[in-house]
Amino acid sequence: MLSIASDRLMDTSSFIPARILATGEAGRWAHLSSLKRRPRRLRLNPALRRMVRETTLAPDDFIYPLFVTHGQHIQNEIGSMPGVYQWSIDRLAQEAESIAKLAVPAVILFGLPAQKDPIGLENFAADGIVQQAIRAIKHAVPELIVITDVCLCEYTDHGHCGILNAPLPLSTTGEGAGEWGQHPHLPEGYVLNDETLDVLAKVALSHAEAGADIVAPSGMIDGMVAAIRSGLDENGFDHIPIMSYSTKYASGFYGPFREAAQGAPQFGDRQTHQMDPANAREALREAELDVAEGADFLMVKPALSYLDIIRQTREQYPQMPLAAYNVSGEYAMVKAAARNGWIDEERVTLEVLTSIKRAGADLIITYHAKDAAQWIK
Ligand code: PBG
Repeated sequence: MLSIASDRLMDTSSFIPARILATGEAGRWAHLSSLKRRPRRLRLNPALRRMVRETTLAPDDFIYPLFVTHGQHIQNEIGSMPGVYQWSIDRLAQEAESIAKLAVPAVILFGLPAQKDPIGLENFAADGIVQQAIRAIKHAVPELIVITDVCLCEYTDHGHCGILNAPLPLSTTGEGAGEWGQHPHLPEGYVLNDETLDVLAKVALSHAEAGADIVAPSGMIDGMVAAIRSGLDENGFDHIPIMSYSTKYASGFYGPFREAAQGAPQFGDRQTHQMDPANAREALREAELDVAEGADFLMVKPALSYLDIIRQTREQYPQMPLAAYNVSGEYAMVKAAARNGWIDEERVTLEVLTSIKRAGADLIITYHAKDAAQWIK
C-alpha cells in the first residue's frame, strides 16, 4: 500500500489507476484519511438538509403591496410588473381575502389620486383613495394588517416627494393655500424639508384615522419619523407603529413602480433626499436617527443590491425589527427572465427571498408574496 501511495504522489499526470479503484484503496490515501471534516455528510438527503437549514421562509415574513385607484370594476395589470394590478375599491375586499387566505399577514397600500396638485391634497383627505381602501380592507378582513406608504410623490402634480421651493404661491385654493412660501436661498424646485414634514404628519394622521394599523414614511425627509410620531401621539394614536423607510437609496430599480403608482418626477430626480448607492456608513447614520426619533421598524430599500446594508443594519440594531423592500425593478427582472424561459421563476424567487432573509431582514415587502406563500405551502 505504501508503494501505491508513493507511486501516486510521484505521478504528475494525476489519475487514479483502475486497480486502486477496484480494490477500494483510493479512500485510504494518507492525505485523504486526514479528512475528518466532510460538509457533504450533512447534505446527503432532504431530511438532513432540512435539519441543518439556517434560514426558512414563511408567509408571515411577507408584506404584499397593493395599488388602489378610483373608479369601478378596475383590475389593471401593470405592463412592467406581470401579475401586479391597480385595483378599484369595489374589487379590494376579494383581493384582501385571497391574500389573507394565503396566510400573508399584511399589505402596504399605494394610492392613485383622482387629481394631483402641488401639495397633494387628496393624500390627507378623509375620502381620499387610500383612506377608502383602508376602510374597505379593514371591513372585509379585519385581521389583515394594513400598512400605508406615507409620501407625496403619487399625489403631487410635479411628482416629487415633498413641497417644492417655487417662485409662486403653490396653491391658491383648498386646504393649505398660501401656507408655503418661497426660499430664495435654496434652488428652485428643491424639496423643502420642514414644510414637507407638516404634510407628512397630516397624511399619517389621516391614514390612522381611517384605520391603518402601521404607517410607513418613504420620502427620506429629515425628521419624518419624529414629525409623524408627534402628530400621531398628540391626536390619540400613540399605539400606531411607524415602519420607517430608514435607508432608501436613489435607485434605478424603482422604474416599474413609477408606472404602477404614476409617481415619476416631472423633472429632476430624488438625489437630494434619497441616498447615494455608493454609501454604506451613511446608512447606519440614517438608521440611528430613525431609531432615536421613535421608529418601530427599520427598512432597507432596495433589497438585492443592498444585502450588505441589510446585514450591517441587522448587526448594528439587533433589537429592531428590520424590513427589506424587494422593489419593482427586482421583481420585473425575475418576471422578464422567467417569461423568456431563461430562469426557473419559482426557484429563483425563493432563492432571492431567502437571500434577503439570510442577510438579516425579518420582513420582506415583495410583489412575489402571493406566489411565494403558495410555493412554500
Ligand atoms: C415613494 C415610494 C417609491 C417606492 C415605494 N415608495 C418610489 C420612489 O421612491 O421613487 C418604490 C417601490 C418599488 O419600486 O417597488 N412613495
